[in-house]
Amino acid sequence: MRIAATGDLHFYSGAPEVWKPIFRKIEHQADVLVVAGDLTNVGLPEEASILVDELADFKLPVIVVLGNHDHEADEVDVIIGMLRDAGVHVLDCTSVQLGDVSFVGTKGFCGGFDRHGVQPFGEHMLKDFIQTTIDEADMLERTASRLKGPCKVAVLHYAPIRTTLKGESEELYPFLGTSRLEEALDPHGVKVIIHGHAHYGSPEGRTRGGAVVYNVTRNVLETYFNQAYRIIEV
Ligand SMILES: [Fe+2]
Ligand SMILES: [Fe+2]
Repeated sequence: MRIAATGDLHFYSGAPEVWKPIFRKIEHQADVLVVAGDLTNVGLPEEASILVDELADFKLPVIVVLGNHDHEADEVDVIIGMLRDAGVHVLDCTSVQLGDVSFVGTKGFCGGFDRHGVQPFGEHMLKDFIQTTIDEADMLERTASRLKGPCKVAVLHYAPIRTTLKGESEELYPFLGTSRLEEALDPHGVKVIIHGHAHYGSPEGRTRGGAVVYNVTRNVLETYFNQAYRIIEV
């Protein structure tokens, strides 16, 4: 299966219409389109409707997760409804199987990496913050553990490893992802992980379990490959 992967489209009212021709090209080069969150700029339904319009006659299955920007206006349920009405698979600790490939996905959250990860200790605000990460990672792991088929792919917004953040300021790393996502996916045979969010990160890395991790933030892909999407064969 050829996955056309991109992320961080950040659609906003009045944005130049650059995606229609890109989606046309993708139809000829891939079997599925994956968008790794930040579909909108400030989480407005009218921004999501631009994406829905641009995908109106798109012929491939589309799988997305939401990003932090899609939460900004507190209209997540409306945005998810619009996307699902348009036939888009919105993954929220859920999965979808297309042929031999099963996809699990969720937004993910902050928390940092490895021994520098934020721990649930001290003030209740800090405990609540990191518990959000722990709860989402636990749900992701439960779904990942039930995936079937020979090929398992995960779609996230936040990064599961540090390597694909290289290029970002290290002070920001705890807000760009968490290794709790890596720990949720590695034990369950997920071999490809696609994420966004880190606009100035690096395109590729590996988890400790050997899964290939792709940062498909549009800005990263344009910087490294001069293209707004990346074809990943699985
Ligand atoms: Fe973004
Ligand atoms: Fe983001």
